[in-house]
Amino acid sequence: MSPENTRVAIIGAGPAGLLLSWALRDAGIDSIVVENRSQDYVLARIRAGVLEQSAVETLTRLGLGERIRTEGLEHDGIYLQFRGERHHVDFQELIGRSVTVYGQQEVVKDLIAAHNAAGSTIYYEAADVAVHDLESSAPRVTFTHAGEAHEITADFVVGADGFHGVCRASIPREAITLYDRSYPYAWLGILANVAPSTDELIYALHEDGFAMHSMRSPHVSRLYLQVDTADSLDQWPDERIWENLHARLGVPGWTLQEGEITDKSITPMRSFVASRLAYGSLFLAGDAGHIVPPTGAKGLNSAIADVTMLAAALAAHYADDDALLSGYGEAALRRQWRVQQFSQWMTDLLHRNRTDLQTMEFDYQSQLGRLDYVTGSVHAQRELAEQYSGLPF
Ligand code: FAD
Ligand code: DHB
Repeated sequence: MSPENTRVAIIGAGPAGLLLSWALRDAGIDSIVVENRSQDYVLARIRAGVLEQSAVETLTRLGLGERIRTEGLEHDGIYLQFRGERHHVDFQELIGRSVTVYGQQEVVKDLIAAHNAAGSTIYYEAADVAVHDLESSAPRVTFTHAGEAHEITADFVVGADGFHGVCRASIPREAITLYDRSYPYAWLGILANVAPSTDELIYALHEDGFAMHSMRSPHVSRLYLQVDTADSLDQWPDERIWENLHARLGVPGWTLQEGEITDKSITPMRSFVASRLAYGSLFLAGDAGHIVPPTGAKGLNSAIADVTMLAAALAAHYADDDALLSGYGEAALRRQWRVQQFSQWMTDLLHRNRTDLQTMEFDYQSQLGRLDYVTGSVHAQRELAEQYSGLPF
């Protein structure tokens, strides 16, 4: 057994855990990160792609902005497409804000490079991770690493271990309520070695379902299709994917360029919020506490927002001011519920719901009416721009 001590024990080396540990280091607070996957696995995980302006500002402030500045793609707005017509919503013109396309994978790569250079303690491939004594002021984390049993005692434990992690599950059932909503469709996402066919992201509602054109670089495109929840990847050979992307994203006079598909995955869509992000000496951050359907591009940004607030609260605690830390759970949840309603709204607006044949066509026409309203009203566009480019944190 190797006993260790730190101020903050962080479970999970996703963007939330890695960024929290980095922000605490910046504030002179030591932490240890415990992750159950390998560093290579964490680096290879392909997920979100859009950073809000506030997220870019946080990363830049913490010295992580160099590659975002040189390789990130700053976008002034998005395209909304329906009835085969494409409409631009210009955030910069509407509210003077923008977003940056920069893959989650790149954020994680920058964080791991920074931690490795600084010599941070991160245990990868930790098995049987468990948290204990959360009601006390000396909580513990136990795990096995390279065949050896470890125990870390800390002032606080932070659950940044994602939706399937152990931390939220360690809060007694009677002390927590889980709010949940699933959607009757999923996203099939691809990465393709081809220059994007668009300058900014296209979100399209088509009779056949939702489609989106995003990107990762001037040479790599990221595209998504609404598929059925029961679909598997073998039902979606490359030809079928391109055929559907052409049909759903096509507008007259524009061509979607195809390229070699290098990654394919299907992601279920879920809205989920835990009723508390704080329990004794435990705090939850990122997907451990809440999940959004990806349509509003908020998952990664919410994780960054939580961690920014939590790092500031912990820094204040160690400077003898507990107000922020005792208010963290409530403040983060209030912000999260605003993000939840936006993600749910974007998702309902842009997907075909075929579960109820009675209302299906009515709902589709009503969605088109809503999209006509949004693209025709400067007030509605400002609201969209404000929420998409991100609430301050
Ligand atoms: P995670 O990234 O999930 O990190 C949690 C970490 O904890 C992981 O490294 C995990 O291995 C580790 N862990 C889990 N259990 C344990 C344990 N018991 N012990 C130790 N470590 C543990 N958002 C978007 O905005 N757009 C998208 O297109 C998009 N696509 C997504 C696709 C998928 C398949 C998934 C799962 C999510 C997607 N998201 C997307 C959401 C976004 O990626 C997440 O919101 C973001 O990763 C949250 O970061 P996090 O650090 O909180 O959690
Ligand atoms: C991407 C993912 C999203 O969920 C989104 O809303 C926009 C872009 C992406 O992976 O690029």
